[in-house]
This record gives sequence, structure tokens and C-alpha cells, in this order.
Amino acid sequence: MPEKKMTRASDFAIVIMAAGKGTRLKSKRAKVLHEIGGKPLLAHVIKAAQQVVPAEHIHVIIGHQAESVRAAVAPMGVTFVLQAEQRGTGHAIMCAREHVAGYRNILVLSGDVPLIRPETIARVRDFHLGKKAAMTILTAVPPDPFGYGRVIRAGAGSDRVKAIVEQKALTRAQQQAREINSGIYAFVTKPLFANIDRLTTANAHSEFYLTDMAALLVKAKATVVALKAADPAEVLGANTLAELASLDAAMRMRKCHDLMTSGVSIYRPETCVIDPDVEIGADTILEPFVQILGRTRIGPDCRIRSFSVISDSQIADNVLVRPGCIIDQSQIATGALIGPYSHLRPGSEIGERAHVGNFVETKKTKLGRGAKANHLTYLGDSDIGPGVNVGAGTITCNYDGTSKHMTVIEEGAFIGSDSTLVAPLRVGKGAYVAAGSTITEDVPADALALGRSRQITKEAWARRRRDELAKSKAGK
Ligand code: UD1
Ligand code: CA
Repeated sequence: MPEKKMTRASDFAIVIMAAGKGTRLKSKRAKVLHEIGGKPLLAHVIKAAQQVVPAEHIHVIIGHQAESVRAAVAPMGVTFVLQAEQRGTGHAIMCAREHVAGYRNILVLSGDVPLIRPETIARVRDFHLGKKAAMTILTAVPPDPFGYGRVIRAGAGSDRVKAIVEQKALTRAQQQAREINSGIYAFVTKPLFANIDRLTTANAHSEFYLTDMAALLVKAKATVVALKAADPAEVLGANTLAELASLDAAMRMRKCHDLMTSGVSIYRPETCVIDPDVEIGADTILEPFVQILGRTRIGPDCRIRSFSVISDSQIADNVLVRPGCIIDQSQIATGALIGPYSHLRPGSEIGERAHVGNFVETKKTKLGRGAKANHLTYLGDSDIGPGVNVGAGTITCNYDGTSKHMTVIEEGAFIGSDSTLVAPLRVGKGAYVAAGSTITEDVPADALALGRSRQITKEAWARRRRDELAKSKAGK
């Protein structure tokens, strides 16, 4: 119950500024919809915010491509505020006024600062309350401060801030300042909204800068303080595609570290791509160059070998995925063996200790306990019982050009190599299908079905042919 945990939930709302275009990305897509870690920037910020206040107290300011942005994150349960014209970060907060003026405080986050951790947002909140400040600014000292607003403190070692100065307005002396504004703030709403109309557009971009609130509040005799983030990497913004790529790398490395801390071995983590919502059990080993995406869950004691791409799938424990597999929206039970080069398409359910081998494709197919399909096979829309052996080159013909049909193979049946099973079809328990058969009719339990033409053998045919060839050569 998040409401209960927060002693005074209505004291804090979170406002996320996400209305800007992102001109410097040179992209058609709104900046906050660009992805890192497999999700839009904005989704990461909302996820962090949700761990500090319940979703109904999160207000997202949208404007540029408002409808696409809204659609992308609406399932997260936040409230949207429209900033129809984007006239700066200060203007964004003016637009949110009637939504959030009822809260005692607001935390302001930027939709393009996605690595922010919930613990850090909570630290800003607590520092803000502890200092009884009107405005608290989260700052950082990154290796390269160029492009960011700089926070000018009242004196060295002081918590107090005099002003935030944007890159373009820095004096020569201020250009030496290394402490940047992260774009993350806490405000007491009363002084914020009492002074916000004093913002002007007298600056390089002719916009209302939220950063100017620092000097305005100081002038109004309110307390403005700064809190330095422990890890500057957490507050890096993404203004260009190159910055986006390095945030993506940072996020994935962070995920690898979290997994390694919880007992997952990752060889060469810098080569692995793991989405933030992935869960993996202890003593599982990931070899170099694997991708584990979406909502995938992998149990303990598995080994995922190189060049496998696994998305939105559930894998139990003790599963071996050999190199080069593609596994999408599928389930794999304990002790199964997959690959090399298997393609498990959506709806594949691989049973306990079942084997799916080289160049085998499955789709909407259930493979029972201990069943095997080891080589060069397509199994689509099928239900395959426990212990069934599917020979090399078997094809379920599930599609007749109009509709899809089911193939059912019951427990312990044996399908000889290079069989073509034309669905709808049922092969009964313990039955045999002879190699090279085309099977169009149901096979009863324990029967043998042959669906191939009879072999013709012509004795001595090859020798006669060789003799004839030799004769005609000699005659020339
Ligand atoms: C801003 C800060 C800068 C800080 C940096 C940190 C200002 C004036 N400058 O600069 O001091 O170092 O963030 O990353 O605030 N947005 C709106 N509506 C608007 C304009 C922007 O919602 O009208 C949103 C954007 O979508 C973005 C965020 O506000 O998510 C920040 O805007 P952006 O233009 O990226 O500001 P910066 O130039 O990075
Ligand atoms: Ca920015």
C-alpha cells in the first residue's frame, strides 16, 4: 500500500517535463520516445518516480507529439498535462499550476534524464524537507559540464545557491564552474507559484527558464539549496543521439552489475544486451554476446550460450540454450536443451527435459516432457506428447493457404525422418510413422503408417550402364 507507506502522500507530487521536441536529436520522433534499455526515456523516468510517489500523484507534461507520448506511457497510470506551445521549462511548470498547486511540495524531473534512481529522488525530497528550503536543486560534477546550466553557490562549501546560469549566458569566469544543474528539483509550491509569473523570456532562446526561479526565489528571501548527486552518471541528459547511445550503454552495464551482484555470471558483460525488467536466477551463466529482452524471466542454474536472443520468455531452471538461438514469447521447462540454432516463435512451450535441436523452428507448439525434435524440423500449431521422437526433417503442414490447422502427436509416438504431416492430423499414442511419409489421415495408437511410394530396385543396372559407356568411348 504505497499510500500508507508515505506518511503524507499529498505533500508531494512529481512533475515530469516531457513536452520538448529535442531539436538536437535531428529526428522525427519526440525525444522522450527515443529508447534506451529497450524502453522510451520517459518510461524510465516514470518508473523511478513511481517508486517515490503513487502513480496518481505523477503529472507528465506533454506537448510535442503529445498523442504519441501519451499513448506510449498511458498504461503506467500517470496524469497528463498539456503544454500546447513549448515556451520553455518555466512555462511547462506554469501549465501544470492548477494540477499541482494543491500539493505542499513538488518534485520536478526531466523526461530526458532517464538514469535517475528512485533513491536519489527520495534523497532530494528528504534534503529539501530537512533544509526547509523553498527550492532544492540536484547537481553533479560530470567530467564534461559543457552544455548544462551551472549552479552558482553562495560560497564554497555552502548549501545555499545564488543562481543557475545556462551555458550560453555564462561569463568567462563562470565557464570554469563545474557543478551542473541536473534538471531535477524540489519546490515548495506556494513560493514557486507566487513568483513564477516573474519569469521572463529575456534570454538566448526567448523561453521561460525554470532555472531562473533560483535567483527569483533568492531575491524573494526564500531558501534555495543544492544537493550534489553521488554519481554524476545518474543525471546525464540525452540531447544528441551520441549521448543517447552512451546512456543506453550505461543503463545496460548497470543492469549487468545488478545481476552479477545477485549471483548471475556474465562473461564479457560489455557485449551483452539485457533489458532492465529482465529477471535471472543465481548461478545462471550468460556467455558473451547474448541479448535478453523485454519481460524475460530465467531461473537459476541455466546456461545461455553466445549469440542467443531471448525476448519476453520464461525459462525455468537448469536449461541449456546452446549458441545462436532465437526465443520469443515462449516457455521452457526445467532441464530442457535448446539449440544450437533453434527458433522458438511465440507460443512455444517446451516441456521438462525436452530437446529442440539444430535448425528447428517451433510456433504455437507444445512439446511434452522428454520429447525430442533434434534436427531440421518445423513444428507449427501442434501438441506433441511426452517422450515423442520427431525425426530429422519433419514438417507439420499447418497452413492450407487459408487457415491454420492442428497436429496432435500423442505420447511415445515415433515420427520417422523426413515426414510430412498434413494437418489437421492426429498420430495416436505409441504409433510409428515411417521415414519419408506424407501423412494425411489420422494414425491410430500403436499403428505403423507408411505414406510413401514403394522402392523399385533394378539389379545390375549400374554395372550395365558403365559397360555401355565404356563401349561407346572405345568405338570413337
Ligand atoms: C535544462 C536546464 C539546464 C540543465 C539541463 C539538465 C533549463 C532552461 N535548462 O537544459 O540548466 O543543465 O536541463 O539536463 O531548464 N521541456 C518541456 N517544455 C518546454 C521545454 C522543455 O516540457 O517548453 C522538457 C523537455 O522535454 C525536457 C526537459 O524539459 O525533457 C528539459 O528541456 P531541455 O530543452 O532538454 O533543456 P536543456 O537544454 O537540457
Ligand atoms: Ca535536456
